[in-house]
Amino acid sequence: MKFFIDTANLSDIKEAQNMGILDGVTTNPSLMAKEGIVGTEYILKHYQDICSIVDGDVSAEVIATDFNGMINEGTQLAALHPQIVVKLPMIEDGIKACKYFSEKGIRTNVTLVFSAGQALLAAKAGATYVSPFLGRLDDIATDGLQLIAEIRLIYNNYNFKTQILAASIRHTMHVINCAKIGADVMTGPLSSITGLLKHPLTESGLAKFMEDYKKGNQ
Ligand code: E4P
Repeated sequence: MKFFIDTANLSDIKEAQNMGILDGVTTNPSLMAKEGIVGTEYILKHYQDICSIVDGDVSAEVIATDFNGMINEGTQLAALHPQIVVKLPMIEDGIKACKYFSEKGIRTNVTLVFSAGQALLAAKAGATYVSPFLGRLDDIATDGLQLIAEIRLIYNNYNFKTQILAASIRHTMHVINCAKIGADVMTGPLSSITGLLKHPLTESGLAKFMEDYKKGNQ
């Protein structure tokens, strides 16, 4: 399972990268705005800064919602750095743009996916990644993990190569359950990754080892 971090915060990206377990980064317009990154020039520069920190794929989302606009923006984003993956919204023009980019060998991430049917369309259009938002489904009392499982089944049935990028991860149990289902990738905040480190028995066990070592080596 690949681990992506879902943020535009450079310090969080560096921390995950320094752990040696980071495979990529996803961003979106809300995450960029949260970091105060506004204006095309600064946004493009920020993507380059992110690419210089990580080795893996960096999803950069288009702002346009029409086909021509998405093609123009996506082409510009893809030219920025070889690690950039063009993130497209799950709308009709987004699917057309996905098909266009996949035929050109430009990698894509179809985002804002909330149903198995949408995921099927993204795979048919040749998406590199599909991003089902499980946390946002959970927020409206709908089982987000069930959607990940349905997409896994459908993609396996037809051997689709599109990778399931479980998005809108909120906590460690989302990560673990997505791994059980067989999501190819998860993207979540730094806390969903560092939370995996923690167990009270690890902490108390280590404290006891250190205490016993000190007693024996006085
Ligand atoms: C995915 O690529 C999105 O950036 C993200 O996972 C959305 O998560 P949220 O529901 O926590 O905003």
